[in-house]
Amino acid sequence: MPLKSLSETPEYVFTEDFDQHATLKRLRETAPLARTNVGMMLALHHRHIDLLVTSDATRQLETEVTMLQGVMDGPIHDLISNVLLFANGEAHRRRRAPISRTFAFKLMDAMRPRAAALTEELVAPHIGKGPVNFVDEIAAQIPARIIADVLGIPRSDLPIFMQWIADTGEALGFFDPERRQQIEASLKAFNAYVADLLEQRRAHPREDFLSEYVAVTAAEGAMSEAEIRTQIVGLILAGSDTTRGSLCMTLAHLLIRPDQWGAFCADPEGLKKAVVNEGLRYDPVVPGLPRVALQDMEVDGYLVPAGTPISVSLLSALRDPEVYAAPDTFDIFRTDHPRWHPIFGAGAHRCAGEALARAEMEEAMATIARLAPNSELVGAFPTLGTGPLRQIDGMQVAFKT
Ligand code: HEM
Repeated sequence: MPLKSLSETPEYVFTEDFDQHATLKRLRETAPLARTNVGMMLALHHRHIDLLVTSDATRQLETEVTMLQGVMDGPIHDLISNVLLFANGEAHRRRRAPISRTFAFKLMDAMRPRAAALTEELVAPHIGKGPVNFVDEIAAQIPARIIADVLGIPRSDLPIFMQWIADTGEALGFFDPERRQQIEASLKAFNAYVADLLEQRRAHPREDFLSEYVAVTAAEGAMSEAEIRTQIVGLILAGSDTTRGSLCMTLAHLLIRPDQWGAFCADPEGLKKAVVNEGLRYDPVVPGLPRVALQDMEVDGYLVPAGTPISVSLLSALRDPEVYAAPDTFDIFRTDHPRWHPIFGAGAHRCAGEALARAEMEEAMATIARLAPNSELVGAFPTLGTGPLRQIDGMQVAFKT
């Protein structure tokens, strides 16, 4: 059988206010692949992760997205050109190795008591006091303060540190061109701050992650100073809006399902892992894993020519009925989560912060369930946007004991 052309695939059309899950379901039932109007193909099944992401036949995007936005130099360009997320081959290996060695599972898992205590510190003052802006006051604070602790950043620097995160997170994807100047100014200050932290650890090593990271990078001698610095900025940014949005959506979906929320409040320790797995599946903050084909490939009877940008749609793969029974049902008791949760990617670029993200989310969710089991979502149900990192539009919660 001759292979079909990609022009025969259905089109995924972005419009204001469309239901992404419903649209993708309809497409998935029509064909395994879809075309977007921004030149990126979408692969719609879970099985495509192995074929396209864990594969040597594709590569990660590099500076394409930034260049598409007309950014050819400056701090945003430097961030994207130096960060491990947008690197391939040898550059990716040399940037990832020191992070893999030092940002270790044991160290991150040990942050659990700190994540629980921090959530309590943030939530307790709002209990019984009416609705709180959950996005800014709780969900953004947890990843920022935890990574600040991991990096040994003093509390007095937290406000400016959080401002830089808020200003620069969008640099990893598409950003509003009118915000470029602000993003670049903050990125410059952020870079200088991280460079200074690294210098401090070189001069006065401590028993901490950053001291070990500077020691490992010095011993290996493989990275430029810009690369050494950028991996730290990249870690901070990669772990911020992702964890923030995931926490919000997980809590929101539970609060509107009193039976499941009640079951969780009755056994937060026993169910925290299941709750987070389902929250990360049902409404994923990372919509897809974009790659570029390095050679002509066959995907389910279609020819994907070398050079084609193609993304495995996580929005679709995480609702693939071949893997998840009743995929459109939010169910914390499902038993069909694959061992490797697709939301953290796959292959060489699989999320380097998964252990930390899980520690933060599981402990935050369990702490809220323990402290405030009668909490309510107030106002509109939050929605995630359409960008490469889906941003949350707002969420109010009234915490009640
Ligand atoms: C719920 C929260 C999170 C989600 C859903 C998430 C998801 C992902 C995904 C999908 C990728 C791979 C992207 C690709 O292959 O194209 C990735 C990479 C990465 N993540 Fe996360 N992440 C989360 C939290 C974190 C945290 C807390 C950190 C660190 C503090 C972190 C650090 C990184 C880094 C450094 C990479 C790049 C790895 C590489 O390119 O080799 N992430 N993440």
